[in-house]
Amino acid sequence: MPIQAIYVRITYAFAKVIANCYRKIVTLIEFGYVRAAPPIVLSSDDEEANMSRRNKLYEGKAKVLFEGPEPGTIIQYFKDDATAFNAEKKGTLSGKGVINNIISEHIFKALGNLGIPNHFIKRLSMREQLIKAVEIIPVEVIVRNIAAGSLSKRLGIEEGTKLPNTLVEFCYKSDELGDPVISEEHILTFGWADEHEIDELTHYALRINDFLSGMFHAIGIKLVDFKLEFGRFYEGDECITILADEISPDGCRLWDIETGKKLDKDRFRRDLGGEMEAYQEVARRLGILPSADVTKIADHQKTEK
Ligand SMILES: Nc1ncnc2c1ncn2[C@@H]1O[C@H](COP(=O)(O)OP(=O)(O)OP(=O)(O)O)[C@@H](O)[C@H]1O
Ligand SMILES: [Mg+2]
Repeated sequence: MPIQAIYVRITYAFAKVIANCYRKIVTLIEFGYVRAAPPIVLSSDDEEANMSRRNKLYEGKAKVLFEGPEPGTIIQYFKDDATAFNAEKKGTLSGKGVINNIISEHIFKALGNLGIPNHFIKRLSMREQLIKAVEIIPVEVIVRNIAAGSLSKRLGIEEGTKLPNTLVEFCYKSDELGDPVISEEHILTFGWADEHEIDELTHYALRINDFLSGMFHAIGIKLVDFKLEFGRFYEGDECITILADEISPDGCRLWDIETGKKLDKDRFRRDLGGEMEAYQEVARRLGILPSADVTKIADHQKTEK
């Protein structure tokens, strides 16, 4: 037999062995005998390296959005930046992004299990989560159980007054205008959402309030009020309304039931101090406080300087 023919046979046999091994491994993985590698937990250095590689879509006051790995996905990065009074007051709360990322993940997963559609896909790292890209409905939905903040100021209702029923308010999402309160008629007149979408926003907002009120009550916290954002998610020809953005102490008022202590962004707004202790207390009571010292996880902005 010529030497070339021997080489061809050996190469063919070798390729067959490799192909067989590959098929066997795939079968074992499919049947669960071989575990896929555990998710890689990124360090803050890895996160910074990832951030510089990614394509930034938008940078807001509290988060940065990057292009996701698949079309229709976004990576939501939680910053330590804090703003209040329409960004008139600015600051940095070391570790806030980490806590908000895990609190929001915890809540969105729980809401998903209750059948409330939302943008959360998975947490990628300490400050990042993978989300479904939506077209944000330019209407913020505020749910109030107890009078506080702008409601008290606008209508002269003493802060802490229990409302006779849950109040759902809409605000037009516009930083330039200071997110003004609007009515359903404004939403319809200016085409920010249609009637069916307004019904869905209200329906989901009330269901979310029921769930969150119970969840926080169980850990000794009163849910005073909170803000939600929704978006349009396109699946083929279908367009569905899903919950987006975040739910964290940045956008909720949370008071300790026993002491009345504020455990939310009002600590920053009103110069009460102890913001991070309060945010961590919420995460601790929810049973999700990360073991690492979150205040030591550097924010990319500090290292960019
Ligand atoms: N799934 C999503 N798809 C697309 N955009 C989203 C999604 N979830 C949230 N967003 C938008 O991403 C931005 C998040 O950034 P951030 O919260 O820092 O914004 P912001 O400066 O607070 O501005 P805004 O007042 O619009 O919330 C918001 O504009 C929010 O509406
Ligand atoms: Mg925001």
